[in-house]
Amino acid sequence: MNTHTTPLTDAQQLDRADPLGLCRDWFDLPQGLVYLDGNSLGALPRCTAQRVAHTVQHEWGQNLIKSWNAAGWFDAPQRIGDLIAPLIGARAGEVVACDSTSVNLYKVLHAALMQQKAGSQKRVVLSERSNFPTDLYMAQSLCAQHGFELKLVSWPELPRAIDQSVAVLMLTHVHYRSGRMHDMAALTQAAHAAGALAIWDLAHSAGAVPVDLHGAHADYAVGCGYKYFNGGPGAPAFVWVNPKHANSFSQPLSGWWGHAQPFAFTPDYKPASGVGQYLCGTQPIVSSVALQAGLELFAQLAGGMQALREKSLALTDLFMQLVDEQTQGAWQLVTPREHTLRGSHVSYTCAEGGYAFVQALIARGVIGDFRAGDESAPFEEDRLPILRFGFAPLYNSYCDVWQAAQHIGEVLRTGEWRCAKYQVQSAVT
Ligand SMILES: Cc1ncc(COP(=O)(O)O)c(C=O)c1O
Repeated sequence: MNTHTTPLTDAQQLDRADPLGLCRDWFDLPQGLVYLDGNSLGALPRCTAQRVAHTVQHEWGQNLIKSWNAAGWFDAPQRIGDLIAPLIGARAGEVVACDSTSVNLYKVLHAALMQQKAGSQKRVVLSERSNFPTDLYMAQSLCAQHGFELKLVSWPELPRAIDQSVAVLMLTHVHYRSGRMHDMAALTQAAHAAGALAIWDLAHSAGAVPVDLHGAHADYAVGCGYKYFNGGPGAPAFVWVNPKHANSFSQPLSGWWGHAQPFAFTPDYKPASGVGQYLCGTQPIVSSVALQAGLELFAQLAGGMQALREKSLALTDLFMQLVDEQTQGAWQLVTPREHTLRGSHVSYTCAEGGYAFVQALIARGVIGDFRAGDESAPFEEDRLPILRFGFAPLYNSYCDVWQAAQHIGEVLRTGEWRCAKYQVQSAVT
């Protein structure tokens, strides 16, 4: 096997020239670790521990309940939403950070279904069979409750499947397995032409690729706080509603935080105006503070999302090139190479040892993850086991890329992934 690879000095040179290189120091990453899982759980910003400690010790410990007002706890969902808005092509006041992505998806899909139920005979919610399962589970529940049908297709079938029967097109912008990125504007336009509404899950795009919700004329969007926003495990998610639906959208989880006057304590629910009605109950303030700390880093970034995108593409291009050199055809790239068709993670498949391979890499200090294939899927890509590597341009370096590829090559050549300890499946893969 030809093991000649691009030298480390090339990656070092790229790091020296990287305009975002200093951002890595904003994060508290363990020395020597190559962390390629920021698409699952973002790294810890250095400022977060202090911010959280202040909230716990001072705001909670000393000021107790006064902090709902004095420390701005009550307004946290809107304040954090305003930090997210410019990163996803939304405007101030249109986003709230709250609950989980699953719960927020439930809210917006319900809203879209109710809008359609009122006006038409459309009965189909259209999505990808390989969409992230929680999106499908939420849709299954709502379809069963409200007399809709969930229709699942593969990505090549999508354009033809967007027909007059479709009430709602519900997609994840960057696919969690393949890393393939949909053309949000084109698919939203096709949905609208068919009289459908478009909901976008931005879990793998928010903070990783520039998103333009208004430019795409999207209807609803949700996304995660704990991936590229670096908000920490279980960080609040977010939800956006196009203001054109301001007078027609609803909220099925009509809790008191979404009430127009929560502290009037009236017996009847009266929704707040705008996206504020998407709040339900008391929000996790400690987690919200951590998310805010993560998001404030984006506000300091010279060049914004465009600069991050350029680096993300450069990192992933280099990774693809080096993995090609190291694996010599033993791994097949699943993610499209073309820039416009992909997000910020890169996925491979291999004939044997996918899960064990990732475990062997983790043991060497290179953290990626594994996603099993759906063996009963009719579309081949959905059946493939996936080895997934996420690149967070805020803190990943070109040397990370080089080290990761080097370890991949060594694990392949030594066959160490065959070791029994790497075959043991943990609960979280
Ligand atoms: C596309 C997508 N949607 C939703 C989720 C998770 O939703 P939740 O935050 O509710 O667990 C993920 C998690 O990885 C995801 O990839």
